[in-house]
Amino acid sequence: MTLLDVQDLQVELMTEAGVVRAVDGISFTVDRSETVTLIGESGSGKSTTAMAVQALLPERLAVVSGRCVVDGVDVVARPREAGKLRGRTIAMIPQDPMTALSPVATVGRQLGEVLARSEPGLSRSARRERATDLLDSVRITDPRRQLDAYPHQLSGGMLQRVLIAIALAIDPHLLVADEPTSALDVTVQAGILDLLLDLQDRTSAGILMITHDIGVARLVSDRVHVMRDGRFVESGEVEAVVGAPQQDYTRRLLDAVPRLGAWTDGGVA
Ligand SMILES: Nc1ncnc2c1ncn2[C@@H]1O[C@H](COP(=O)(O)OP(=O)(O)OP(=O)(O)O)[C@@H](O)[C@H]1O
Ligand SMILES: [Mg+2]
Repeated sequence: MTLLDVQDLQVELMTEAGVVRAVDGISFTVDRSETVTLIGESGSGKSTTAMAVQALLPERLAVVSGRCVVDGVDVVARPREAGKLRGRTIAMIPQDPMTALSPVATVGRQLGEVLARSEPGLSRSARRERATDLLDSVRITDPRRQLDAYPHQLSGGMLQRVLIAIALAIDPHLLVADEPTSALDVTVQAGILDLLLDLQDRTSAGILMITHDIGVARLVSDRVHVMRDGRFVESGEVEAVVGAPQQDYTRRLLDAVPRLGAWTDGGVA
């Protein structure tokens, strides 16, 4: 079943410089267990699309048209119902794990607050057990102890695992991950992406992934849409697009990814 069905989505943003058509008539779908990636240069409209899918664009700043059906609800036509979806079937993994959590509350408290909303019947001790299990499921070692940690005591990679645990707490059908690893050290990135894919296997969640890094796209995607100036310039299976890009623009994106090669005086060739 199609989990997310976007048809002719358009977004106009009211900016100080005038109206910007940030998304200009795109269509795509995401099924359960599928990862669909939007890739494109800065300013191409990827985040605006992600926000529109979640009905997070402020009404007075954005004019959204087209269809965007999540789990049977058109969030463009019925933005208020979209608010309910956000706590229930759509979860977001933010770009910068360092600033996404409150610095003044422990990890356990912040996870507990989400659980209290999603499963109001749970007792305090049952919530703590669930929170421990969630941290364990995102491969945080000694999860019981980490519940009492404050965000500043954890590394960026650990924090992103906590945020993924928070996203999973609502048992989402659709995960929206906007550059989930770009704020992290490269050595940590692969582990987080691997974790996401593993969790997807277990939960059958669909993932809308956003990245400007074709290496990331290649690792996680079933399909990719290459975005430029609010439109898709190229779409298809990831291997087809990466292996034989049809557009110069896509080729340039590919060339921007450093590849491992022979060492030269200046570094990696
Ligand atoms: N808050 C805003 N106010 C005004 N214009 C905005 C705002 N957010 C985005 N835009 C404009 O909308 C267009 C699309 O931006 P968007 O953030 O969706 O791009 P992006 O592909 O996510 O880029 P990046 O890779 O840098 O995150 C750009 O022209 C941008 O300047
Ligand atoms: Mg963005």
